[in-house]
Amino acid sequence: MAFSSRFSRLAIASQLLFALFVPIPFAFGQSSDFDWETLTAYENLTWTSCYGGFQCSLLKVPLDYSADKGNASIAVVRLPATAPKSEYLGPILFNPGGPGGSGVSTIVSIGSQFAQFLGPQFDIVGFDPRGVSFSKPAVSFFKTAAERQSWTPPDLDSRYPSLNASSGVIPRVWGQFQLIGQLAQERDTDDILQHITTDNVARDMLRITQAFGFEKLQYWGVSYGSLLGATFATLFPDNVGRIAIDGIMDSEAWYSANLTDSILDTDKTLQTFFDGCVAAGPSACAFYAPTASQIAANLASLTGSILAQPFPVKTAISHGIIDYSWFRNYIFASLYSPYNAFSGFAQGLAQLTAGNATGVYTANQTPDFECDCKAEDAGKPFTDNIYESLIATSCGDGAVVSDSISDLRAFYEREATVSSFADIWGLWRIHCSGWKVHRPGRFQGPVGANTSFPLLIIGNTADPVTPIAWAKKAAALFPKSVLLTQDSPGHTSLVAPSSCTHGALRAYFQNGTFPAPNTVCDIDGAELFPAANSNSGNHRRSLKEGGDNQLLDAVRAIGDVVRPIAAMGRSWVV
Ligand SMILES: *[C@@H]1O[C@H](CO)[C@@H](O)[C@H](O)[C@H]1NC(C)=O
Ligand SMILES: *[C@@H]1O[C@H](CO)[C@@H](O)[C@H](O)[C@H]1NC(C)=O
Ligand SMILES: *[C@@H]1O[C@H](CO)[C@@H](O)[C@H](O)[C@H]1NC(C)=O
Ligand SMILES: *[C@@H]1O[C@H](CO)[C@@H](O)[C@H](O)[C@H]1NC(C)=O
Ligand SMILES: *[C@@H]1O[C@H](CO)[C@@H](O)[C@H](O)[C@H]1NC(C)=O
Ligand SMILES: *[C@@H]1O[C@H](CO)[C@@H](O)[C@H](O)[C@H]1NC(C)=O
Ligand SMILES: *[C@@H]1O[C@H](CO)[C@@H](O)[C@H](O)[C@H]1NC(C)=O
Repeated sequence: MAFSSRFSRLAIASQLLFALFVPIPFAFGQSSDFDWETLTAYENLTWTSCYGGFQCSLLKVPLDYSADKGNASIAVVRLPATAPKSEYLGPILFNPGGPGGSGVSTIVSIGSQFAQFLGPQFDIVGFDPRGVSFSKPAVSFFKTAAERQSWTPPDLDSRYPSLNASSGVIPRVWGQFQLIGQLAQERDTDDILQHITTDNVARDMLRITQAFGFEKLQYWGVSYGSLLGATFATLFPDNVGRIAIDGIMDSEAWYSANLTDSILDTDKTLQTFFDGCVAAGPSACAFYAPTASQIAANLASLTGSILAQPFPVKTAISHGIIDYSWFRNYIFASLYSPYNAFSGFAQGLAQLTAGNATGVYTANQTPDFECDCKAEDAGKPFTDNIYESLIATSCGDGAVVSDSISDLRAFYEREATVSSFADIWGLWRIHCSGWKVHRPGRFQGPVGANTSFPLLIIGNTADPVTPIAWAKKAAALFPKSVLLTQDSPGHTSLVAPSSCTHGALRAYFQNGTFPAPNTVCDIDGAELFPAANSNSGNHRRSLKEGGDNQLLDAVRAIGDVVRPIAAMGRSWVV
């Protein structure tokens, strides 16, 4: 593979689609074999070879598009098209979500699979949105790695507490985010935070496109990347070449800082675990019971027993407590990626029920923090800064939230009528309750336009964080767009390859053609609970006859990297 060995799979896996909680893949100071500091930012794309087979460039863009406040530099990487020049179709930009996911890391890791999937006619392009990783300025609220670690501890009970764990959680998290908001504002001495917003990232995408010599954007965005694509299409409706968005974040919810309806389908996703387990039988599903309601009851009873008595676990490299909050996160995380997660999740539940927490903890542990506290590290930006980027972008985009503790409690209680996972998802609102930096005049919707080329909009029938209702709503906001529904649980169509979905996506980019209206696609080559005697491994099942195996393999490889993986303790997933 062409990517640097230090771009480990683990690191990339945590550049999550839509990261609610922030993955800290390895503590900090992520580096790579290419030193972006050696590049100069230009208003054109001046390419330098990097990462073996890739080309890197820093594009100079205005920090503020409405006033001269200096410049930002956007890290852009491309895997150049290999087709003859006469067939060249320009760049396709990709955004993996987050917000805060690094497009550079994603493309460096799996650019060749993107090329295999989308076609050799395209430059495959990743970029770090302003504020993120290798782009400058980078968002940072913390002075040192040690300080950062103290605010982002790996143990889930303190980092991502369930709001239902006790009546003290909401007040405590409120207090933390009052402080985070204050730190971020005080340390924003160069006045950059107000410019780290989705509308500006959309403007940067137009600049990147123009620097390639094109006027129309070609773009694929998943999860938060869907919101970025829809925002671009609204700001620049005449500059839409191809925009495919998948795992739709609702713009109204996003820009009002109210993600309540995000979890409309989360319980439906969990139901697919119960139903799938019954259908798979005891040999394939370790948490089997004869009916779905019995499995649900067994899960509730395990939850209750962990609430009453958690599991303290000590391993060779770390220690921690599997308590109520940890366990709620464990359940939620499994829903992102059912085809990869359900089988192991069922085994984990069975082990916990049997009183053995070692395997579950070990599979999700993070090594104890070791501070690389050398003086020269102080003040160095963190290249893995998805935590900061996510908070800055989502809170900076959204309406000002000045909720009191009782408002937040009411918000949670309202959200709990939508889904049993409000205890996890309610944190989004609290994150923004202490945020102080909002640029007047930033774009806040409404989203929607008659675009120069129709959007392709993809939604899953049971997505735990971007419900199908939001995909339908987006399709209505863009009158010419085409909606494609993938009949699967999990977050975004990348949960499993589908000849139907991904064939349509490829045809959209290559030929500008669309699936028939109201197309519902099945997946192929994946099962929720692969038979125990299968030697092909989870979700590595044989493909449907006549399927385009090369296409599906490429999509599967992309999914393995882009799709959020329930790597708890290290990366929380959205
Ligand atoms: C890019 O801009 C720089 C600075 O203006 C200039 O020196 C260089 O020749 C330009 N490169 C290209 C490829 O246009
Ligand atoms: C920003 O870039 C422009 C164009 O290259 C340049 O004229 C200007 O001086 C830069 N501003 C700062 C503050 O560096
Ligand atoms: C948040 O959205 C939900 C669902 O759309 C709505 O019922 C609720 O009133 C909203 N809450 C606030 C504080 O705006
Ligand atoms: C607990 O589970 C671990 C890992 O799954 C296993 O190695 C160990 O033997 C189990 N302990 C007991 C007491 O069964
Ligand atoms: C909160 O936790 C309790 C105890 O496990 C449970 O009975 C209750 O249903 C939970 N409430 C919500 C809103 O999830
Ligand atoms: C799209 O165009 C139609 C017909 O001109 C117009 O009625 C509609 O308001 C436009 N929609 C948007 C979202 O701009
Ligand atoms: C694009 O159209 C050509 C000509 O109709 C066809 O051969 C090709 O299979 C299409 N490509 C995709 C990806 O559908």
